[in-house]
Amino acid sequence: MKAERQSILCRLNARRELGGGTVLLNFEWPFTPPRAGQFFMVKPARTSVFLARPLSAAVSRDGVGFLLAVRGRGTAELAAMSAGDETLLTGPLGNDWAAFLPQDAAKPVMLISGGLGIAPLAAFSAELRSASVNFVFLSGFRRGADGEAMLSALGSGADGALIVSEDGGGRPNAKRGLVTGFLDAQNYSAVFACGPEAMLKSAALLCREAGTPCFVSLEARMACGTGACLGCAVPARDGGYRRCCSDGPIFDAEDVFFEP
Ligand SMILES: Cc1cc2nc3c(=O)[nH]c(=O)nc-3n(C[C@H](O)[C@H](O)[C@H](O)COP(=O)(O)OP(=O)(O)OC[C@H]3O[C@@H](n4cnc5c(N)ncnc54)[C@H](O)[C@@H]3O)c2cc1C
Ligand code: FES
Repeated sequence: MKAERQSILCRLNARRELGGGTVLLNFEWPFTPPRAGQFFMVKPARTSVFLARPLSAAVSRDGVGFLLAVRGRGTAELAAMSAGDETLLTGPLGNDWAAFLPQDAAKPVMLISGGLGIAPLAAFSAELRSASVNFVFLSGFRRGADGEAMLSALGSGADGALIVSEDGGGRPNAKRGLVTGFLDAQNYSAVFACGPEAMLKSAALLCREAGTPCFVSLEARMACGTGACLGCAVPARDGGYRRCCSDGPIFDAEDVFFEP
């Protein structure tokens, strides 16, 4: 069942620092849980920033979780919150990964993440596992140790994810290199990608060459998060624009215009 959008002050239940400026936040959420791939607009009750910030929902057994990297003032204030502090959560927003699953696929699907993209895809892997869908999960990181910390913090959602790191670190079976270097797109019925734009573009090109459908979760600066302000327009291949918040954030990579 798709959750209805709510906008409510929620208490921070747990906060865990993972190193490298990354924090896992867990909020109470007394409503239907989000679907994997959806996001929330998040704004602390006491803040110096005007706009809420978009964050993807991570796996959470009770409530809603967010895996957060500090970028600027908004994310720094969120990361500095303590258990018990209140935050305005608006969501769940946007579409979800499962809407793009191929029907009756003969081959497994591939989940491929870069950095914090692990969070929404770990949530998707949990959904796929409970629906007995066959999948392979590659998670790329600059530093394997950061990847290991994130995978451990995300718990069972990230079970089975194989770490690919630029320094070769992480779990004993970690691979060294760029995560897209391990994407044999022809072996999968569809590829689901979340991470930095360069990684998404590379995954999209590999999938196009292999004739494999590819779905990417995009990021844009957002104001309303609900399709009203057009502040999050992302360029499309047909020359037009799409609203990242309400048409996405997940798009068919063939519809996305990636900067050359
Ligand atoms: C759908 C969606 C899901 C997201 N999920 C997560 C998540 O799970 N965890 C997480 O840590 N972050 C996530 N982000 C990114 C997060 O929203 C931004 O990092 C945050 O809004 C930055 O706010 P700030 O005030 O800290 O930084 P600002 O002071 O606003 O900006 C600091 C720097 O970050 C850049 N920046 C800001 N916003 C974005 C953005 N949306 N995309 C790319 N660069 C940006 C700015 O250009 C600037 O260089 C998501 C974004 C979207 C659109
Ligand atoms: S953020 Fe307002 S339309 Fe997307």
